[in-house]
Amino acid sequence: MTSKEIRQKFLDFFQEKGHQIVPSAPIVLQDDPTLMFSNSGMTQFKDFFLGYKEPSCLRIADTQKCLRVSGKHNDLDDVGRDTYHHTMFEMLGNWSFGDYFKQEAIAWAWELLTEVYQISKDDLYVTIFEGDASENLERDQEAYNFWKEHIDESRIINGNKKDNFWEMGETGPCGPCSEIHIDIRNAEEKAKIPGRELVNQDHPQVVEIWNLVFMEFLRKADKSLEKLPKQNVDTGMGFERLCMTLQGKTSNYDTDVFSPLIAKVEQISGEKYTAILENEKDIAIRVVVDHIRAVAFAIADGQLPSNGGAGYVIRRILRRAISYSYRFLGMKEAFLYQLIAILKDQMGSFFPEIIKQEKLVTEVIREEENAFLKTIELGLIRLDSIIKNALKHNEKKLPGEQVFELYDTYGFPADLSRIIAEEKGLSIDEAGFEEEMAKQKQRSRKSSTSKTYDWVMLQEKTETFVGYDLTEHPVKITRYRKIENKDGVFYQIALDETPFYAEGGGQVGDTGFLENATERIEILDTKKENNLNLSLIDVLPEDITARFTAKIDLSRRQDIQNNHSATHLLHEALRNVLGTHVEQKGSFVGPDYLRFDFSHFSKMTEEELTTVEQQVNDKIRKNITLHEYRSIPIQEAIDKGAMALFGEKYGDTVRMIEIESSRELCGGTHVKSTGEIGWFKIESETSAAAGIRRIEAITGTKANAYFKDLEKNYQEIAKFLKSKEILKSIQKLTEENQLLKTEIERLKAEKAKQETLKWKEEYVDKGDRKLLVKKTSMDAASIKDIIFQLKKEIPSSLTIIFSDAGNKPMISIGISDDLTHIYQAGVLIKELAKEIQGGGGGAPTFATAGGKKLDGLEQAFKKANLL
Ligand code: SER
Repeated sequence: MTSKEIRQKFLDFFQEKGHQIVPSAPIVLQDDPTLMFSNSGMTQFKDFFLGYKEPSCLRIADTQKCLRVSGKHNDLDDVGRDTYHHTMFEMLGNWSFGDYFKQEAIAWAWELLTEVYQISKDDLYVTIFEGDASENLERDQEAYNFWKEHIDESRIINGNKKDNFWEMGETGPCGPCSEIHIDIRNAEEKAKIPGRELVNQDHPQVVEIWNLVFMEFLRKADKSLEKLPKQNVDTGMGFERLCMTLQGKTSNYDTDVFSPLIAKVEQISGEKYTAILENEKDIAIRVVVDHIRAVAFAIADGQLPSNGGAGYVIRRILRRAISYSYRFLGMKEAFLYQLIAILKDQMGSFFPEIIKQEKLVTEVIREEENAFLKTIELGLIRLDSIIKNALKHNEKKLPGEQVFELYDTYGFPADLSRIIAEEKGLSIDEAGFEEEMAKQKQRSRKSSTSKTYDWVMLQEKTETFVGYDLTEHPVKITRYRKIENKDGVFYQIALDETPFYAEGGGQVGDTGFLENATERIEILDTKKENNLNLSLIDVLPEDITARFTAKIDLSRRQDIQNNHSATHLLHEALRNVLGTHVEQKGSFVGPDYLRFDFSHFSKMTEEELTTVEQQVNDKIRKNITLHEYRSIPIQEAIDKGAMALFGEKYGDTVRMIEIESSRELCGGTHVKSTGEIGWFKIESETSAAAGIRRIEAITGTKANAYFKDLEKNYQEIAKFLKSKEILKSIQKLTEENQLLKTEIERLKAEKAKQETLKWKEEYVDKGDRKLLVKKTSMDAASIKDIIFQLKKEIPSSLTIIFSDAGNKPMISIGISDDLTHIYQAGVLIKELAKEIQGGGGGAPTFATAGGKKLDGLEQAFKKANLL
């Protein structure tokens, strides 16, 4: 069975059991402070478990792209070293949101594995939660009883909290789970040790393939467990492991999920994959084919490699792949980007984002590879000098601090330093390295830690956003919680009906205040967390249950709206002018300016920029009324031509903003008609990353201030030039300046000619040579001209000129060709230059030297006369 068929059978099976099949959510998460990436299939459904949102169907199934490279679930260090861990993997899952529970989940899992996929029952084991006294949780007898109906009791194994109580993160939905493990060893191995004993023992051929979680608790910040409103099912089956089982392999990398990628790496590198676990080349190939998937899909979902947050995690994964292939496959040039075409063929039918974004993903990866390979080369040079220094001082170890600096500041992999040091018979001061690493971690922990307390609920009311229509509104606080971070103590509050827009879709959050007859509370910022709209304050009201009037900082909001609506107009104009390959890749909409990143592969020309600016301003001047479709079915919006963003997760109904022909799915706030924007001015167009351009622009009051400023400057210049026609005046001044320059040059040449004539008469005849030693204040170029003239005209001549032009000592020597067998200008100059603390050199017939000691000229002059 091919991997494509295996995936399809899973989805068909659950569709028949009444499940709605949904697409994978983007791999990168937004608005969730507890998680960076989808680390399991359930992440996209978190709000359904928490009761924040209602699902469109109580039964759902899908295959989800997952990444386990940060936070609670982190497999990165194992990847490549074994046969079954991955950075990105697909998780097949089925869900029940308060619908079926343990009985059906268990029965269907069994039916699918043993009847549809025809896995032998003798190869399967299941685990159930044994209970945990510290959490006051009992053994999952219910699951045991249901399993007993399908499988021999000797194959049901108790598991502890670590293995059989699944938690999404430090906080969030969780519950006891029941895992299905498979034993794929050969008969001989099986006879030696029963599979039961190898379950959960990290045996590469006795592995967990499916986890059935009975999600009924919420882990709170104070670590206590609370019952969720409903009993849910969340199952996750490792797709790559399932393929390994069904394709009769013993490594995920031997399945058709990876084999085309491996073949391509073999072809490019000329190295053969031998599937040996400890072989470094094989490890490197596994690292490469694994990591490329994670990086490619993260970029396709909108996460570019960068220096912070999720972007940094992606950059590190890519760099791990580059450093492995550099070291063990001898790949000193970019090549990973060539794997994207293979990935597209393999996965495109299920994950169309990789087809749509192929060019961008390829370009970004190639650029990142080139940049990091350069880092490696520079790192090698630095490392070389660290090694030389150690050898010079007879040290056996390289200083940990320096190796750490190389790693931390330059991104040079520490294990690469280690290997190169070993080749020279040296090692690394590991303790010193670790100490620096610990200090670094401490520093970053200090700057990023924030402690969040549990919610204090004041009233159970649905919290809604009214800020599309209202900028001032009576409100009550529904809940609050304290947070402490390096900036101090703050409180997050939610309001029953809030007019404050929460940061999202690039638009910054609203500020403003809450007030009533007795109090006024500043709203410092507003952010979204898992669909909750939370405003930040630094003092709690005296009476937290009182009614307030919430007021948005209106002029700030107007500036923000101007920038947001202008962003839509800019997006459309860019597509008109550059082509429809232009897609939004990031945006920032603040009160002072807007920033728009988009895919485009070359720098925009002046003409293109002017046309784009003009088109936007034309639409502003037309004063077009915006149409807001607050809730229309997503398909209808797409049919109307709305632009959706890759990596953005949309619900069944969406909000669409229409400005004449521009239609975008958007949750932000906008002007009522485009005239409000006033003016749109592009300030810069630069490169944001490979294949991505960035435009920064201003509108409204800021554009006004910009033009006022320009006007003021202009007036000041006009006043200075005493003319309103400043361009003409400056052109005139430049021309005059040029004429004067030419005149000076001419006069200088004239003077040099006269000097030459004069100096010609002043040579002292010394028998076999004629010597001229002179002091002057002429500049270097004039002296050079004269010397060249003299040494040509006067045979057997030695000319030495001292100059103090610009108060800097300078010596120049000229020797005629026929005298170079006696004197060498380059040698003589060194001797004389010592007196002026200078260095210099030159050819046998001409040399010049500058120095630091002006009063040394006299001594040098005396010396020269002795020649
Ligand atoms: N959430 C569980 C897991 O990731 C089952 O989907 O293992």
